[in-house]
Amino acid sequence: MNSVEPSDASHLMQVRDTNVIVQPEDASQPAEHTLQELIDRIKDLSEIPSLLDVENWFSSLLVSQRDFHPYRMFADRSYARNLIVRGPFAELLLLCWRSGQRTPIHDHGGSVGVVMVCEGLLTETMYERMPEGHVRPQNTFKRSPGSITGADVPDIHQLLNMQPDDKHMVTLHCYAPPLSELNTYSPLSGRVGRWREGYFTGGAGI
Ligand SMILES: [Fe+2]
Repeated sequence: MNSVEPSDASHLMQVRDTNVIVQPEDASQPAEHTLQELIDRIKDLSEIPSLLDVENWFSSLLVSQRDFHPYRMFADRSYARNLIVRGPFAELLLLCWRSGQRTPIHDHGGSVGVVMVCEGLLTETMYERMPEGHVRPQNTFKRSPGSITGADVPDIHQLLNMQPDDKHMVTLHCYAPPLSELNTYSPLSGRVGRWREGYFTGGAGI
């Protein structure tokens, strides 16, 4: 799991949790991109991007709330997964969370995933898998708007809007390749469930 805190997007560098300064692969690229440029990039992909690629795209993304408006839709029963673009190699979604809504504890079924907080305060809990199959929490992070966090293939986590009543949360997600099937984990029974992307769409929350 990697994390990038909010920073001045005019710089072509990002700093991760490990304090390692990461230089984008092509420093000649413009430092800032619009949401539409990111959509076009995902449409034009010819291969699956790396976790670092997607983190760099998000780090250089300049967006306003107006850009997200067409996709900013909430649901009562669970958090809403609003698709922005889906190609063969990656997909981009805007997830909208009412207070208390959360994902199951899950992995990404072989995909990498990157999340950027757009509105509100994201709570992310990382889990580790024990030898007997149970999962147990390792760390919990609070992520503010502008924060970027990446989940590598083996990572297991849960995302939550733990803010008080009426405080919404909006997060931008990129998965590469697009999610198809993923595993969910019960911390009590150790049971592993499977979610298909079609079923997961619309939110699998509490
Ligand atoms: Fe996830």
